[in-house]
Amino acid sequence: MTTLAILTAAGSGTRLGRDVPKALVEVDGLPLVVHAARRLAGSGVVDALVVTSPPGMAGLVAGVLADDPLVGVPVRVVDGGATRQASVAAALAVAGPDDDVVLVHDAARPFAPAALVRRVVAAVRAGHRAVVPGVPVVDTIKSVSAALPAPAAGHGPASAVETVTGTPERAVLRAVQTPQGFDRALLARAHAEGAARAGADHLAATDDAGLVEALGEPVVVVPGDEAALKITTERDMHLAALYAGDAHH
Ligand code: C5P
Repeated sequence: MTTLAILTAAGSGTRLGRDVPKALVEVDGLPLVVHAARRLAGSGVVDALVVTSPPGMAGLVAGVLADDPLVGVPVRVVDGGATRQASVAAALAVAGPDDDVVLVHDAARPFAPAALVRRVVAAVRAGHRAVVPGVPVVDTIKSVSAALPAPAAGHGPASAVETVTGTPERAVLRAVQTPQGFDRALLARAHAEGAARAGADHLAATDDAGLVEALGEPVVVVPGDEAALKITTERDMHLAALYAGDAHH
């Protein structure tokens, strides 16, 4: 029985404002997708990778991964889809019958430590069929809706654009990261049902655990790691550089 890691790298990363897809942006001289692949492969618990590439760039992505001596597991590259959910589904379609555990990891979190990868896989192998790493949130989080009509002229700022609808208790919130780990059959069912639901009023899922939750199946949380931060903006690139050299913790 084997563990397959799906590494999602098909996003454009427009918020980073570079002229190459985010996964190919370099930190410390290496593309983010290579940093991420090194840590997955170096965990010792991942047998193979399937990487989702921006459509038309699979050859380029395969090339940078093949050239790296520290990505020591077999790598396949598939074209991603229009959404992250579609990209994961495309990668899942090439999983083999022996891949009983599947990790899904974002190349946008290239410095998720090998120890975190091992923690997630260990929890799945211990019998939890859906596992996410999570960290406590530091901000108070509010839900919002479109703003109420503006107050009468002269009362209050005209710039309010949203209205608060709730404040969940912070102590029970977790910011979840990747890699997320799954029993392959459960993840495949979650994606099949998620694809069937996808329609005008269903936004694509932003994580895979959400699709499992929609089945009513339990998802467990293991401690995350601040090094698994998601690179979204230029500011995050500076933080990423702090973790770039530290591949082995
Ligand atoms: O867009 P977002 O930041 O949520 O993307 C998270 C991850 O999903 C990134 O690693 C990105 O490359 C990947 N992605 C993908 N296919 C898409 C969109 C995003 O593989 N169509």
